[in-house]
This record gives sequence, C-alpha cells and structure tokens, in this order.
Amino acid sequence: MRGFDEDLLMIPGPTFVPDSTLRVMSRQMINHRGKKFGEMLTECTENLKKVFRTKNDLFILTCSGTGAMEAAISNIIEDGDKILCPVYGKFSERFKLIVEAFGGKPIELPVEWGDIPQPELLEEALDREKNVKAVTITQNETSTGVRVPLEEISKVVKKHNALLVVDTISSMGGDYIPVDGLKIDLCVSGSQKCFSLPPGLAFISVSEEAWEVIRRTKRRAFYFSLPAYLESYKKNPPEQPYTPALTFYYALQNSLRLLLEEGLDNVISRHRKVAQATREAIKALELELFPKREENCSVTVTAVRIPNGVSDKDLREHMQKEYGILISGGQSKLKGKIFRIGHMGCVTDKEILTTIYALEQSLKKLGQRVEIGAGLEAAIKVFK
Ligand SMILES: Cc1ncc(COP(=O)(O)O)c(C=O)c1O
Repeated sequence: MRGFDEDLLMIPGPTFVPDSTLRVMSRQMINHRGKKFGEMLTECTENLKKVFRTKNDLFILTCSGTGAMEAAISNIIEDGDKILCPVYGKFSERFKLIVEAFGGKPIELPVEWGDIPQPELLEEALDREKNVKAVTITQNETSTGVRVPLEEISKVVKKHNALLVVDTISSMGGDYIPVDGLKIDLCVSGSQKCFSLPPGLAFISVSEEAWEVIRRTKRRAFYFSLPAYLESYKKNPPEQPYTPALTFYYALQNSLRLLLEEGLDNVISRHRKVAQATREAIKALELELFPKREENCSVTVTAVRIPNGVSDKDLREHMQKEYGILISGGQSKLKGKIFRIGHMGCVTDKEILTTIYALEQSLKKLGQRVEIGAGLEAAIKVFK
C-alpha cells in the first residue's frame, strides 16, 4: 500500500509545496487592478525584500527563473556592451547565452566545473578589458553544487564601477545572501526552490546604480521592462503592467508568511544543518563530494561523484522504484558523472535521513561496498 501519490522530491527544484500553500491556490480569482490585489502585491513585495535583505526596489515577474535572468540583462544592455561572465556550470553559462542573445559582448571566463570564480580572476579581467558594464555571478551553481562567496567579488566589481548581477535562483531563502550588504545591483530568484512554491514566479531586485544604467539604456525589453514594473507599482492601488498569475500570488503570500513565521535565520540554519548532515553522510559512505573544496559546497544542493561500478541511471532508478525518492543526475558535461541531492525549501531531518537510508541501501544493492548505517549515523550526529 502506498500512502502518497508522489515520490519524495529530493531534486534541486521544483521542491515540495506545503499543504497550506496548495490549499490557498484553490481560491477564486480577483480583480488584478483592484485594491485587494494591490494589498497582496504590497505585502508580497515587502516580505520578499525582507528575504532579500534589501531596501532596493523589488519586482515579482510571472515567469520561471530564467525570465528574471533575462530581465536583468535585457534592461541594461545595448549592442556591443561588454559583460563579464565567469562560467563554472550550466547556469552561469546561461548568463553568457542571454548576453549574446541581446547583442552584448560576453567576456567569458572559464572556470573548472566544481570550482568557483576567484576574485583575482575577475580583477585581472576587469583591469584588462576596461568598460565592462556588468559582471554576472551564479551564487549557487546548481549544476555543480558550489556556492560562491560574494564579499570579495563584490568589492572588485564595485572598484571597477561595474554592475553586479547575481543569480540566487536556487539559494535565496535558504542561504544567507544580504543583497544590500553585498551591494548586489540586480539580484534574481525563482519560486520553485527555497520558497517551496510551484514554478511560475521570479523575483528581481534593482539598486539605484542599476536604475541609472537602465534609464540610460535605449534598447530595452518589453514584457520584462523594469521601468514598466516600477510605474505600475507606484499606482494606487499598486499593480503589475500585465495580468499577473494570481493563483501563484496566493501561494507566494502564504509561503512568505510561513518563512517569516519560522524566522529567516532559523530557515537558513535548518538548510545549513541539512546540508552538513548530507555531506557528513556522503563522506562516511566513502563517496566523493563533487565541489573541489568542501567550504564551497552549496547549502541547498549536494553534488556527489558517481562511484566506480555504478551507473547514475541505475542508482536513481533504484532509489525511485524501491524507496519512492527522487534525486537528480548531472547536467551537460556532468551527465553520468555525478548525482545531486536537493535539500531546499521545506526539507528537514526527516526527508534527508530517509534519503540517506535509501542511498545506502541502493548502493549496496547495486554491488557497492558500503557500510550500511555509516551514512545515517554521521548524519544523525549533526542533528543531535
Ligand atoms: C542557479 C539556477 N539558475 C537558473 C535556473 C533556471 O531557472 P528556471 O528553470 O526556473 O528558468 C536554475 C534552475 O534550476 C538554477 O538552479
């Protein structure tokens, strides 16, 4: 007998959505240009600013995370503009592709996958290139499981008068990313990761320095025009330029209330603890973390090298079939080389311990020499 319809989602997004959030999504439609929506939009925007730890303008877009990445680039770019794009995984590479698509000149800085871009590398490139308009950073590179510390990078970027554009799609809400403290000019995130929402909304914060560039930029996005979002938000009641996905706003309002009720710092500690427990389990099972240095491991997704003698497909299939647990494989050039455990959103010790149990059992079943219980014991120690 099976008690749940769906497999346990331990992939790096979409994540499980709390029951109370699912319930509010069945509410009736309201006028998207009326007072009720204005109040909901204001509450969601103000609460998102708390999560982003920013006083900057912040907008909610009806799209997935990539839409917000596109909004960040398309609002600041003109033909031939130089944008520095360190590439150290699939999502940092996406910034480069968006810059190209909008007629900019990406200056690609290749970094070994599993490693992070060092501030010195950026400094050297910024000194060499001159007139770089912006630098793109993926704070949490979901494809490799690394987390990029932003303090030094931000100083280097600001010293060169460039804008700092940061993707926090798979980390905002689960990791500590103070947008104002780090002087991030355009910070983007998405609904289906740490916010425990369905895919469909994205968020973008805009600093005063970014507005100066946006105001000067002639060629601009239409659907994602940030000045259009600002103008609509200033109306009474505040609204969105185009019809917003109302159902997702009901969900967002609920999810932000849940996050604030738990306390942002508590949410971050929970993510850190779950991530640490996962890493301890992986090491105890004598598996190898994919990031080059453990201090650069993400707090929302753990990437692990596939051990010799097991196929990534078999491992994932076994975990799903026998235990109803879904984990992810590698993407692009890491396909078949790593597996990834997502631990973001409403994930707790309960879900991660179940996952580690299933991992141990599956590896054993597939012929690996693992000490059953070693991973669980190491993980449990972290929660004690
Ligand atoms: C770091 C990062 N950036 C961008 C994206 C793309 O977001 P979306 O699929 O919501 O467009 C993802 C999705 O996994 C991501 O993890």
